[in-house]
Amino acid sequence: MARSGGRDLRTSVTLNPPAHPEELPAGPLGIEVLGVRHLYDGVPILDGVTFDVQPMESVAIVGPTGVGKSTLAQLLVRLADPEQGKVLVAGVDVRDADPAALRRDVSIVFQESFLFATTVRENIALDADAAEADVVRSAMIASADRFIRELPQGYDTVVGERGYTLSGGQRQRVALARALVRAPRVLILDDATSSVDPTIEADILAALRRELSTTLIVVAYRLSTIRLADRVIFLEDGVVKATGPHEDLLAREPGYAAIIHAYERSERGER
Ligand SMILES: Nc1ncnc2c1ncn2[C@@H]1O[C@H](COP(=O)(O)OP(=O)(O)OP(=O)(O)O)[C@@H](O)[C@H]1O
Ligand SMILES: [Mg+2]
Repeated sequence: MARSGGRDLRTSVTLNPPAHPEELPAGPLGIEVLGVRHLYDGVPILDGVTFDVQPMESVAIVGPTGVGKSTLAQLLVRLADPEQGKVLVAGVDVRDADPAALRRDVSIVFQESFLFATTVRENIALDADAAEADVVRSAMIASADRFIRELPQGYDTVVGERGYTLSGGQRQRVALARALVRAPRVLILDDATSSVDPTIEADILAALRRELSTTLIVVAYRLSTIRLADRVIFLEDGVVKATGPHEDLLAREPGYAAIIHAYERSERGER
């Protein structure tokens, strides 16, 4: 399936730091999106998007290509600010949240992540001074530990430029482990496991839910992924067209059913 992807809000906006940064409260975090409108070049992409995600809930965001799923995901972590409306994390407007707290607690993983020309261990630990046990545990949840151990020097194998070349799915799993090592309280996956084999992807999502006390938001393109979520948020024409359990939406939302059937066909290898 063709996806627009690629373009990144991070380079295109300057965000005002909060005058009085607020800390996020302890415990699992919920998210509220209230009347969010976002434009590119004067054209509204999202226009009145409202939904919430409960602490510890796991939701799948589903919608046609170009509808604004990645844009929405990036607004949740304040890589950009919406034109109108707001995003609250545990009741705190992300524009008022302490940026360091937000970065630590609300983590996003994209389809493509940069790997540094250093060891796998350092790529996972990054600037967090993560203990070895946390690096390994994160890699295990990301279904990466086994293949990492099979690399020429295991966790000490140098990857990236001039290093060992990992496959797309392996890179994605290292990037996921990197996000997990910081123990985020909200984890957003935007197509972050698309190159991973579907059965491994299902293992990863099950492990995330079992091992972490994390609110999980997955931009989902596979039926197997969608089924693992507590609830689906279906975006169409710039708004949340419907939300509810997958089976309910399938029965009552023709636009949703059409997308699901297209995913089923592509998973069976048909066009
Ligand atoms: N930085 C940008 N500047 C201008 N237009 C953009 C930018 N980023 C995205 N768009 C456009 O906004 C719309 C929404 O893009 P977005 O990437 O959020 O969609 P998506 O739902 O994630 O799509 P996909 O399923 O293909 O990943 C698309 O029409 C896209 O071309
Ligand atoms: Mg996208």
